[in-house]
Amino acid sequence: MTRWCYYRWQMVVVAFMFMVFLTTPVTSQPQTNILITACSQANHTNLQNFYANLNSTFQDVRTQLSNNNTYFATAEQTRNSEAVYVMGQCRNYMSTMDCVACFDFADRVIRVCAGANGGRVVLDGCFLSFLSC
Ligand SMILES: *[C@@H]1O[C@H](CO)[C@@H](O)[C@H](O)[C@H]1NC(C)=O
Ligand SMILES: *[C@@H]1O[C@H](CO)[C@@H](O)[C@H](O)[C@H]1NC(C)=O
Ligand SMILES: *[C@@H]1O[C@H](CO)[C@@H](O)[C@H](O)[C@H]1NC(C)=O
Repeated sequence: MTRWCYYRWQMVVVAFMFMVFLTTPVTSQPQTNILITACSQANHTNLQNFYANLNSTFQDVRTQLSNNNTYFATAEQTRNSEAVYVMGQCRNYMSTMDCVACFDFADRVIRVCAGANGGRVVLDGCFLSFLSC
C-alpha cells in the first residue's frame, strides 16, 4: 500500500517536472495569484496523524526553500498509517524571500483541502502539492 503510494508519488513528480519545463514564466504581480486549487475526493481516517505529518513535511519543504538557490523540494513523513508526501517549487526567477512568502501563502490556501488525501495549489510564483495514503 505504502509502496504503491510511493510509486504514484514519483510519477506525479516526474509529470510535474515536464509541465514546469514546458510552461513559460508568468511575470505579473503579485506572484500569489491563484491559478489552480484542487483537492482529491477521499478523506482521512486518522486526521490527527495526518495533520501532524502534513505540518512537519510542509515545514521541511519550507526549510529547504529557505536556502539560497533552492527552488524545488520534496519531503515525506511515513512514520504512521497516514504517510504524507509533499512537493514544493518556486519559479527560479523568484528571490528566496519571495519564494518562502509564496510558499507560506500556498500553505494557507491548500488547507481548504483539509482532510482530503491529496491536494495541489498552483500560484504564479510557486507550486505546492501533497499526496497521502
Ligand atoms: C469527505 O468529507 C467531507 C466533509 O466532511 C464530506 O463532505 C465528503 O462527502 C467526504 N467524502 C467521502 C468520500 O467520504
Ligand atoms: C497543523 O498546522 C495548522 C496550521 O498551521 C494548525 O492549525 C494545526 O493545529 C496543526 N496541527 C498539528 C497536528 O500540528
Ligand atoms: C543568501 O544570499 C544572501 C544575499 O546574497 C546572503 O546575504 C545570505 O547570507 C545568504 N544566505 C544563506 C543561508 O546562504
